[in-house]
Amino acid sequence: MTRTIVITGGTHGIGRALARHHAERGDQVVAVGSGSRPHEDAPNIRFVRSDLSSLRQTHDLVARLAAEHPVIDALILGAFRFNPVRVETEEGFEHTFALYVLNRHLMAEGLRGPLQRAAAPVIVNLCGAGRGGRIHWDDLQLKNGYRPLTATLQGARAAELLGAAYASEHVRYVLYNPVFVATGLHEPFRQPLRGLVRAASALFAQPVARAIPPIAALVDRPPAEPLTTWRRGRRLDHAVDAHEARRFAETVRALSERRPPG
Ligand SMILES: NC(=O)c1ccc[n+]([C@@H]2O[C@H](COP(=O)([O-])OP(=O)(O)OC[C@H]3O[C@@H](n4cnc5c(N)ncnc54)[C@H](OP(=O)(O)O)[C@@H]3O)[C@@H](O)[C@H]2O)c1
Repeated sequence: MTRTIVITGGTHGIGRALARHHAERGDQVVAVGSGSRPHEDAPNIRFVRSDLSSLRQTHDLVARLAAEHPVIDALILGAFRFNPVRVETEEGFEHTFALYVLNRHLMAEGLRGPLQRAAAPVIVNLCGAGRGGRIHWDDLQLKNGYRPLTATLQGARAAELLGAAYASEHVRYVLYNPVFVATGLHEPFRQPLRGLVRAASALFAQPVARAIPPIAALVDRPPAEPLTTWRRGRRLDHAVDAHEARRFAETVRALSERRPPG
């Protein structure tokens, strides 16, 4: 039976490779990105443009996807942008938080109905799980002393907490850290850092084609446990504080309901 797979960030890097992989195997893929349609024309992949750092656009996208796809088999969360300097969205959120945290919460929550109707549904959150990030409870939007790595690590910790809060017996939640994969990692940087990151990527990063099979395998055969954490194809024994997970999910839910008028 044809499966439906929604991939945020399905237009570049790991997300695009996963989109092509599953489409070639006969799945129906919806690939979401904020830029222009990818050049090549791939059958079974429908491109949807949406700026997922916007709560308003994410709410609209979720409503549209839920109406168009009563059953969704897999949701792969991969939209990400590394922000060397602090950027604030029109809705007043730090950009990394908006895209890496609020968007991923809303996608998982908003598509819960279509996912629950699938036979073996799974959410795969591509993130930096297991890297020891922390939530800056007193300054979630990192207004004081923004650092790009701090924002990225906070997002990674947020993924762990949201995964713990949302995983269920039926909709499995997979936290997947690809570690270092040769995508467009150098692009956000200026020279000379750009050249250094490009060189490090060429030397040490895993080619995208090698990074894909273990992720696709988890989509095809979700693990038995509700929540699992993976690092480059290897399972991690990783515990999350249930109390912090609940507290964080409630906080994120309240923030993401702050819907601007119009
Ligand atoms: N590559 C690694 O070494 C590595 C390591 C650890 C974790 N990860 C995680 O793996 C995931 C994929 O990484 P990647 O390296 O493949 O990323 P990538 O090549 O930079 O691609 C990012 C994707 O996100 C989309 N995107 C960015 N901003 C968006 C927005 N505002 N709205 C909608 N889509 C947006 C981009 O499309 P548009 O440009 O069209 O918007 C693109 O399709 C990320 O979640 C990342 O955190 C990657």
